[in-house]
Amino acid sequence: MSLWGGRYSNQIAEGLYNINSSLSFDFRLYHYDIRVSIAHVKMLAEQDIISQSEKSRIVEGLKEINKELELEIKNKKFDYMQTEDIHTLIENRLFKKIGKTAGKMHTARSRNDQIAVDMKLYLKDVIRDTKRLLLNLMSAITQISKDNIVTIMPGYTHLQRAQPITFAHHLMAYFYKFKRDYERFDNSLRNINVSPLGSCALSGSSFDIDRKMTAEELGFSKIYKNTIDGVSDRDYILEYNFNAATLMLHLSNLSEEIIIWNTSEFSFIELNESYTTGSSIMPQKKNPDLAELTRGKSGRVFGNLMQSLIMLKGLPLAYNKDLQEDKESVFDTIDTIKAVLAVYPSMVKKINVNKKRMELACEKGFINATELANYLSRRNISFRKAHKLVGKLVIYVEKEGKSLTDLSLKELQKILPEYSECFDEDIYNYLDIKNSINNTDTDGGPSSTEITSKIDKAEKYIVKEQI
Ligand code: ARG
Repeated sequence: MSLWGGRYSNQIAEGLYNINSSLSFDFRLYHYDIRVSIAHVKMLAEQDIISQSEKSRIVEGLKEINKELELEIKNKKFDYMQTEDIHTLIENRLFKKIGKTAGKMHTARSRNDQIAVDMKLYLKDVIRDTKRLLLNLMSAITQISKDNIVTIMPGYTHLQRAQPITFAHHLMAYFYKFKRDYERFDNSLRNINVSPLGSCALSGSSFDIDRKMTAEELGFSKIYKNTIDGVSDRDYILEYNFNAATLMLHLSNLSEEIIIWNTSEFSFIELNESYTTGSSIMPQKKNPDLAELTRGKSGRVFGNLMQSLIMLKGLPLAYNKDLQEDKESVFDTIDTIKAVLAVYPSMVKKINVNKKRMELACEKGFINATELANYLSRRNISFRKAHKLVGKLVIYVEKEGKSLTDLSLKELQKILPEYSECFDEDIYNYLDIKNSINNTDTDGGPSSTEITSKIDKAEKYIVKEQI
């Protein structure tokens, strides 16, 4: 039975029933909907709007329904089309259980404030879980970084070898991206922690309700200052969708790199077999499916963000049924993030690093050319000039099929005779890649001391947040 048929003489069209029904997706809110109803009727009793015994009967009934629904869903006995939505389902069942007292539960509230408060409670738990999973990923990154503090590799710009870095330096860049994601999820709790309950349909209630009491009972720190805003605000859903999209963007970037590093062309890493799948035709293949699917799934998460923005953009105040469309997309995002983060950290932890290949890649591509320009500019040559001179040296060694380190002092003096007094043995300290990395003591740079201290701080951060 629907909650609103009083003024209707006929049934609504079957097609409308199908499109209107949200139970197939809002069923996942049942537990929150029941918690909200319990808080609401407790307040109604406290305010003498219903009696204490009515409250007790309703609360008992709701608790039983909670257990029944849990079992039905678990045992796959739940009928997803049985009624319009989760609120109707729970109220109908309450009627069956306790009779007409059930009709008092909906005093001084509406499904409009009910659904908003349900979603906020649900998202609070989701964010707690998302944060926990993200910490696992951040921890996997610090672990593998710790094993690769002195693993040198070329750093890239434009996917061209640029300057020498370490694998730890590269990976820790992702740590900070994920840390920002983590903090964004955490910050979003600020807006979630405001209770819309008591906004009712849009304008509150002429009953003497206590909005602060229900807010406190449900763990909210504030209440909406405007009831129209309370029922129409969906910023918290946009925030989750945006935060999830940014997280997926970072995961997609990392996945792309993992895929490239894992190719035979690069061979910088080898993925553990358990995170790859085979080909039905090419027996030799081990495809990086998890990384590829993560990269691929970022698309649907970005799409979900767009969907929610577009769905909201033309709405007048206050509640409009369009708002029901906020759910499937955010649920899809939540499920996607959860599925990816459940397995991604262990893939990262079990990456086999081919340190030799990375080091070998540093020998090609003249990645010590900038350091050579730095060497010259320390000898009273402007950096612009030094840059040009090194360009000449690069042309020379490229022609000769040599690398910059192969050049003897004599050769250097011969190629650039006007600068012959600038060249001495110290130049080889600058050309040596390991040396040059460790000499780069820029805060946030690749040197071992710098990275070790950053990893140490990252580990402490994770421990602090895990508590
Ligand atoms: N299923 C609805 C939603 O998700 C619940 C609120 C319904 N409100 C209404 N006035 N029909 O938004």
